[in-house]
Parts: sequence; structure tokens; C-alpha cells
Amino acid sequence: MEKDFISAGDLSRKEILEIFTLATRLKKTPWARSLERRVIALLFEKPSTRTRVSFEAGVSQLGGVPIYMDFTTTQLARGESVSDTGRTLERYVDAIIARVQRHEFLIDLASSTEVPVINALSDREHPCQALADYYTIEEKIGRLEDVILTFIGDANNVFNSLAIMGNLLKVEVRIAAPKGYGPDGRIVNIIRDLGGQLEYFEDPKEAVRGADVIYTDVFVSMGQEEERGGRLSAFLPKYRVTEELMAATGKESLFMHCLPAHRGEEVTDAVIDSRSSIVFDQAENRLHTQKALLVKLVEGGFL
Ligand code: CP
Ligand code: NVA
Repeated sequence: MEKDFISAGDLSRKEILEIFTLATRLKKTPWARSLERRVIALLFEKPSTRTRVSFEAGVSQLGGVPIYMDFTTTQLARGESVSDTGRTLERYVDAIIARVQRHEFLIDLASSTEVPVINALSDREHPCQALADYYTIEEKIGRLEDVILTFIGDANNVFNSLAIMGNLLKVEVRIAAPKGYGPDGRIVNIIRDLGGQLEYFEDPKEAVRGADVIYTDVFVSMGQEEERGGRLSAFLPKYRVTEELMAATGKESLFMHCLPAHRGEEVTDAVIDSRSSIVFDQAENRLHTQKALLVKLVEGGFL
């Protein structure tokens, strides 16, 4: 098993399924002592509601101590190197969970420390989100193999992790995005190296045909605020998930969103508040799956 969880591809299919089994046990019995006498740092360079609280609550429920670090109040913000920071933190803590602007930061941090580094979102990936999402899909549909998941919108960090992990789990992942906002070459190559392929569509109606799950995320991610005007005109109104687009799947499909949502922008209230929407179950499962991930990375899977 890899020391870190920086990319969705850092876990094998077998390891992901083991984490799911552990998550189900932890969902039934939330309190355990697995992380007793462990201290876990949470370093955040961007805002967060779900990731921060689910990790802090999860570490606490497992008997460990979480330490929240606001990036702007650390010496990193005054130019201390990533490596010196990592070499210091590992003397105090048993794992580092970090949400950062630049993915390379995580790679540098991981290579300069012996303790596990977990990606809590970067510009390139959001693997903890994908872990919770596929756990949720399996919980709702009862299987993952041959499930069709269509992502509508920007091929961003959330999509990248869904695409990589989906491939490992034999999910058919499709994306509908305007030209210029589709999957980047790096992700296409990662998936090709895994022996899979990504199905790219420009037309959302075509992409959703037969899909079991429709997934979307914001069109303007954190750090892209200056591109807002150009992005909204590229995505809207064609890529908004509406009841009409949900109906175009031709079956009873589930609606997913990592949250936070910009209601009325990438999804209508009618869809996100519908019976097909499982967005809050997804959010809840961040807690259970991340606890299982920590038990696996820090304790070798022993509950
Ligand atoms: N989905 C997600 O990561 O949410 P937060 O930004 O609130 O952590
Ligand atoms: N793509 C979004 C996800 C937020 C959880 C962002 O990076 O802002």
C-alpha cells in the first residue's frame, strides 16, 4: 500500500474495497479507539465545510486529536519551504491532511515526510470525495461494475478523481463539457495507462443516455474566480442539470454533487431537492470513508 493518498490512483481496487468494508463497520459503530494517541494535522489553504468537519469529527470519534492549521497563519505563508514544514510536522503528528492550491505541494510534502499525506483537495484532484462517492453509489445501487456515471460540466479536480477511481472500480465514466473544458491530456493518459478510456461528449443529452448517475460540480472552482465570466458563458445554459436533462437518461437515475452547490447555476433547485438527489448521503459518507482511510493508512487497517 502507498504511504500517501494524493491521487485517486494511489489505492488499488482491492484496497478501495477493503476501505468500503471498514467504512460500513464504522458507519454502524462510529466510536472506536483506533486512533488513540494519534495526532493528525489538517492544513487548509482554501475554505472548507465538509472536508474539514468530517475529518475533525472522524479523528475525534476514533480517539485521536485533530489539529486544524490555517495555512495563512503558518510560516508557509511567509515563505518557509514545503520540505522544511513537512520535516518539522512529522516530528509532532502521525499524518497530515492538506487542502492546497497546487497539487505539486502535496507531492513535495509527501516526499519530505515519513508520515502519510492525504489530499483534502488540490487544483488537480479530490480523491477523498471520489472515495465517498463510489461508496455511496454502491450503497444505493448495490454494485459498481458497469454502472454508468455521467459527469456534466467542468473536467475539474472532482471529475479527475472520479474518472481515475471509476476506472479502477469498473464504472463507465462519461463527461459532457464544452470544448476547452474537457478532460486534460494528463488524466486521459493516466486512464489509458490503467487500461481504460474516458468517454467525452459535447452534447449533454447524448452523454446522459442510459446513465445510472448524473454528477455535477461548480463551473468556477476555488482559485478560478477571475475566469467566472468566461466560464459561465461557456457552460450556461447548456450544461445546467435540469429535470429535462435528468429525464433524458431514460431511466430512474440518481443525482450527485460534491457540494457546495451554486443552486440555479450548474443545477436547478428542483433537481438537487428531488427524490433522486443523494447529495447529503454523499456528504455523510465523507465521514465514514475518511475514517476508514485513516485507519488503513495510519493503523494498517486495524480497528
Ligand atoms: N465537497 C467538499 O469537499 O466540500 P468542502 O469544500 O465543504 O470541504
Ligand atoms: N471543484 C470544486 C470542489 C469543491 C469541493 C473546487 O475546487 O472549488
